[in-house]
Amino acid sequence: MTDTTPATLGHVALHYRDKEDGEKAARLLHLLGFATREALPLPDGTTFYHFLVDATATNNGDGILYLSPLRRAHRWLYDSIHEALGIGTDKEHPAVAKVRKSEMQDPEAGFHVGFLVPTLERIEEAFARVREAAEADSDFGRHVEIILNRAPPGTPDIDARLDASPLFRDATRHTYGRHGVQAFIRTDLLCSGPLGDDLVLEFDYVFPGYPDNMLTKTEM
Ligand SMILES: [Fe+2]
Repeated sequence: MTDTTPATLGHVALHYRDKEDGEKAARLLHLLGFATREALPLPDGTTFYHFLVDATATNNGDGILYLSPLRRAHRWLYDSIHEALGIGTDKEHPAVAKVRKSEMQDPEAGFHVGFLVPTLERIEEAFARVREAAEADSDFGRHVEIILNRAPPGTPDIDARLDASPLFRDATRHTYGRHGVQAFIRTDLLCSGPLGDDLVLEFDYVFPGYPDNMLTKTEM
């Protein structure tokens, strides 16, 4: 018997810490182009969100982002980890600074979620919306950091397109592979990783006509 549909990545469950973070995190996901399918109010005043990665996809139970409040036990655990490691104190465990440095240098160093986007314009438009909102509202903007990797130079048509891109023209970082770009959002509105401090969302685009590209061949 042949399967009629391929297996896909079904969903990723994202978590926010506090009620106010939930509204801002939902705003960020909306600005990034994810479509709200449901926003269910919970008895404690928080909201459980169901986003679609792409509203025009088949959406047969896949392509879902769930966004919900961190459970109390998990919050307690994160608080206990911070306390035990002395985070923010003069007795902070040295591993914390090492990991933070590594993640600052490379947004892909820790846990992150990547999305493959069909056009470069879609990434440019999404990040323009986030930038505009961040500039207009500092209470939102202080939670959002943008990091950009452009394709290493050497392919004239790609170089020209990126030089003309309002998003990528000033980017100085490069992707590990070729013929694509990566745009990242690091936000402390979402909890992940061993310290629960933040989450990185990655948006990838690969230029058509290049079977050897950053998603098929990593070049370190
Ligand atoms: Fe990645």
